Amino acid sequence: MTEVNNQKNLLDELVKNQVDQCLPLRGVRPADPAKKESYAAFMSQYEQVRGRPLFYKYMGTGRGSGPYVELNDGSVKLDFINGIGVHVFGHSHPTVLRAAVEGSLSDILMQGHLQMNQEYLDFSQKVIDLAKGSRLTHGWISPSGSMANENALKMARQKNTPARYIIAMKDSFAGRTTMMAEVTDNPNYKVGLPEYNEVLRVPFFDKDDPSSTETTLKELKKHIANHPNDICCFYFEPMLGEGGYKVAPKEFFIPLFEECRKHGIAIWADEVQTFLRTGEPFAFQTIGFEDYVDIVTIAKTAQCGMTLYTEEYNPQPGLVAGTFASSTPALASGAAIIDEMNREGYFGKSGKVAKIHEEFVGLLQELCEGSCKGLLEDPEGLGLMVAVTPFSGDRTKILKLLHHMYEKGFIAFGCGKDPFRLRFLVPAIVSTDDLKVACKIIEESILELKDS
Ligand SMILES: Cc1ncc(COP(=O)(O)O)c(C=O)c1O
Repeated sequence: MTEVNNQKNLLDELVKNQVDQCLPLRGVRPADPAKKESYAAFMSQYEQVRGRPLFYKYMGTGRGSGPYVELNDGSVKLDFINGIGVHVFGHSHPTVLRAAVEGSLSDILMQGHLQMNQEYLDFSQKVIDLAKGSRLTHGWISPSGSMANENALKMARQKNTPARYIIAMKDSFAGRTTMMAEVTDNPNYKVGLPEYNEVLRVPFFDKDDPSSTETTLKELKKHIANHPNDICCFYFEPMLGEGGYKVAPKEFFIPLFEECRKHGIAIWADEVQTFLRTGEPFAFQTIGFEDYVDIVTIAKTAQCGMTLYTEEYNPQPGLVAGTFASSTPALASGAAIIDEMNREGYFGKSGKVAKIHEEFVGLLQELCEGSCKGLLEDPEGLGLMVAVTPFSGDRTKILKLLHHMYEKGFIAFGCGKDPFRLRFLVPAIVSTDDLKVACKIIEESILELKDS
């Protein structure tokens, strides 16, 4: 017992030291001119390895604090993209570090579906427990969002065999495997790939079109009529992610779901980007259609992929497997993140996520109506997923803006097609001051580039 306590104290101390050492990184810092040459050498090595340039010239030191991250050029940047949505608690969060360090001392680094340790069960059970109000009673872990989606599609197809077609929204993003590239509605992500012609499209909600729900329902009915008993699932993101951070109300979804139910079509929500981020643990709870989902996929904030499903969609043995489930530190950290979000009041209408959303959108709105009037518009999103449109959505100008902001110490990203938008995956630990730093850099950058 004393030995266990000693080890526990040692780990606590190790984590505390690391967190304390990183605390001075709270604040944007420019690159160190003395590191310019060595950093440039890293970048050209990266480019050589990957065969093309990086989007951002980014190489982290492995140190960061809260929403700030240190790079090998000596700079510290405010990170509002977090590995495209992975690090919901930002950098060097004590809870995440502690779980990861403990997990890394396990006898095995990677867990699979044949030999699992306690972390596999703990994580799975916690996610299923979060899915309150739904009929999701099972979950299968996988190494990524794309694999979680692949498993989901197989489950839908097996249950509804021999139905082949998938209904998906226009501008969807489902991942990078061959099949998920097909489900994804972005030709730039599948140049040279053959079309398998298995996906039928319906439009996502358009807040500027009063007959949007009617139009989508009509399209859905048309597909169902044209392909009787040959549609296995309705795949959708509860909030359009890569497609432009567009939000839809419950009233848009329900008639679509009712129609799918009538025809035995699986209702599959891709929550790879929305999980833990929209105010409630799942966006299906935030928007309010818990009862309808048959299959739900998650990844990113979860630190691994997972497909959740109802008893009805429980696949036959042999359909889903794979060598890797996830790593022990990732499973332990995923469980710890869920615990911390539950314990520390992140969820709910007046939870921390909702407060951050309100504050950030409010600050962006001030810019839209004030110094950036005519240059910035339409801040929207759900919870920690926020987007805003600068320069009327001009992609070339916004790509320039992203790099300009990056040089000034702020990392954001883009999304959407017409308009292209600025996208933020805000870490759940930001303070009001951090949000103000972000808005200051956005404001300055827009004003500096407006005539370029
Ligand atoms: C909605 C959605 N689905 C699926 C994926 C693919 O996940 P992964 O990159 O982990 O394979 C992503 C990734 O951005 C996503 O946003």
